[in-house]
Amino acid sequence: MSKIVDEPEAYFSQFTRKDDPLLQELELEAETEHIPIVGPVVGELLFILSRASGARSILELGTATGYSTIFLARACALNAGILTTLEHDPAFAARAQKNLERAGLADRAKIVCGDAFAELSRMKSGFDLIFMDIDKADYSRALPECHRLLRPGGLLVADNVAFPDADPFNRAIFSDGGWRPVSLLAFLPGHSPERDGLCLALRC
Ligand SMILES: C[S@@+](CC[C@H](N)C(=O)[O-])C[C@H]1O[C@@H](n2cnc3c(N)ncnc32)[C@H](O)[C@@H]1O
Repeated sequence: MSKIVDEPEAYFSQFTRKDDPLLQELELEAETEHIPIVGPVVGELLFILSRASGARSILELGTATGYSTIFLARACALNAGILTTLEHDPAFAARAQKNLERAGLADRAKIVCGDAFAELSRMKSGFDLIFMDIDKADYSRALPECHRLLRPGGLLVADNVAFPDADPFNRAIFSDGGWRPVSLLAFLPGHSPERDGLCLALRC
């Protein structure tokens, strides 16, 4: 019987990137101010998924200080694409704008300050990738809009799906033939919280 390494959390914590001063500053700030950011593992995953899929039109729901936005916008820049991110808190939207400018990504990301549901209803379809990270109780309500806005074959990434509030979303996406979903329960160093679920779903 094969066995995994002793203390897998400690083992995998060493394999996270720590080479970006701006991201490290935002990680420290998030820890101090209790801002729930995705951390370096999910950030890197978002970059890899966006870059590998060649996503040129990305939508993010829930910006906060723009930490996850920077990973997505960096992939967008390499794919010659554009990212739109929605945030209803004006103070967060202003901080995110400053952070995107500091990252040299202001021309790649458009921050829309407003309620996600009002903004989504005004948007046209054709997104290649959507990252969902707003209040978990709102995920199931946002799901039909994500389906409408993603192109067929587009990718939905939903964070924090191990939260009890995400249960209606998990049940809805697995019972809807319009999606091909997979749920991962993972250890995610630097994520809020570090043990959580992620849902990846192809829009059929
Ligand atoms: C978990 S934080 C986002 C963290 C960010 N994605 C990151 O990892 O760096 C969720 C954000 O969504 C915003 N939010 C929650 N519900 C929203 C809604 N209905 N419309 C717009 N923004 C919303 C909150 O103000 C908060 O900043």
